[in-house]
Amino acid sequence: MKLFMCVTLLCLTCSAYASPFAKGDVENGKTLIAEYECNNCHAAKVGGDGSAIFNRSSSRIRNADDMLQQITRCSGSMHLDAKEQQDIGAYLNQKYYKFK
Ligand code: HEC
Repeated sequence: MKLFMCVTLLCLTCSAYASPFAKGDVENGKTLIAEYECNNCHAAKVGGDGSAIFNRSSSRIRNADDMLQQITRCSGSMHLDAKEQQDIGAYLNQKYYKFK
């Protein structure tokens, strides 16, 4: 994880266009969220289709690292690999969180 952060920081300094999930595949992230049915569970908490959890005002997610940690907590038994986490992060960041 530390190594990953270093690499991320390095990339951020050398590219004006880098986002925290520059390597993530947004479209695949969207597909994965549907496949893993993440929002079925979130719906129990926020109602609707569950996606409202990503822009609720009580969110404690303050940066990309928080988001990744929450994705890891949420996906406990699903064992997402690093690539899947990046893809989901890229999608959520583009659509909801907008972290730089
Ligand atoms: C077992 C139920 C469950 C599943 C499955 C689940 N989540 Fe969650 N998720 C939650 C709960 C409950 C919260 C709210 C936690 C809190 O209030 O601290 C949450 C919160 C989150 C948040 C933070 C929302 C915010 O800004 O406050 C993210 C991001 C998230 N989940 C992503 C995912 C993703 C991605 C998946 C699928 C890979 C997933 N979750 C699957 C229960 C789940």
